[in-house]
Amino acid sequence: MRKVGMIGGGNVGSTAAYQLASREAADVAIYDILPGVPTGKALDMTQVGPVFGFDATITGSDDMSIIEGSEVVIVTAGFPRKPGMDRMDLLAKNVAIAQASGEAIKKHAPDSVVIVVTNPLDVMTWVIQQATGFPAERVVGQAGVLDSARFATFIAMELGCTPKDVKAMVLGGHGDSMVPLPRFSTVGGVPITELLPADRIQAMSDRARTGGAEIVKLLGSGSAYYAPGASAAMMAEAVLNNSNRVMAASTWLSGQYGIEGVYCGVPVKLGAGGVTEIIELDLNADELAALKASADNVAQGIADVQAMAAAS
Ligand code: 2OP
Repeated sequence: MRKVGMIGGGNVGSTAAYQLASREAADVAIYDILPGVPTGKALDMTQVGPVFGFDATITGSDDMSIIEGSEVVIVTAGFPRKPGMDRMDLLAKNVAIAQASGEAIKKHAPDSVVIVVTNPLDVMTWVIQQATGFPAERVVGQAGVLDSARFATFIAMELGCTPKDVKAMVLGGHGDSMVPLPRFSTVGGVPITELLPADRIQAMSDRARTGGAEIVKLLGSGSAYYAPGASAAMMAEAVLNNSNRVMAASTWLSGQYGIEGVYCGVPVKLGAGGVTEIIELDLNADELAALKASADNVAQGIADVQAMAAAS
């Protein structure tokens, strides 16, 4: 079976690992800094095999070399938010972890596609791309899949319909300035702008934008992990199967949407080798302005990392 490496065996990493293994999408190797924990989690997951009848090899170690030979590496290592924190508040704490992760990937899985989940997402995706030296299309951030899933969930709840029929689109950086796009969000193929009044759409967009913080506050300690883990697993599957699925993902922009030199969430095709195409939607002036403002926040985060590096 193909191999996916996980850097970080906390809640998000282990959820993604479990999803991939239980769907028999890949063998999974989990690295975590805590001795024993990834090995214990891997053993526990392996013991579900006979219960649900799946057959995938799941291993864990506190030695990074466990990811050797992975076709896809998912990075979740880092500190999560505490209630009241903005994702950008994690920047200083998580830069070093992201850099070390990138260097380990370069060494042990030099041909892999990397899916980044560590926050602040778009800036950490850039840090890891720099540390690996990989072409930008092989390093992609998981945020749009999660943010779109949150928006889709609220749409399904509002309409009382099955989430299976809802396809939502949220672009921009993974922060409070993310950009839900109602015109490109559909139920059974019908844009929600045809189904719901503007004030309800605004309320759902706002809830999607703060959807991560809502869960952080409810949990009291730690942040969301079922949907973030599933979203990373889905992206890994798209790469492994070369399915060229279309989804929003944090991608290096070099002029698309008039944005240059940042990672930011836009619709992409994801397949073998990572991002195989960046899709440019015909956004109206308000949508484009919101996307650019969100990209500016990411650019500021990248500038902060550069300033920290220059000062050290
Ligand atoms: C979230 O939105 C953890 O950033 C992640 O839940």
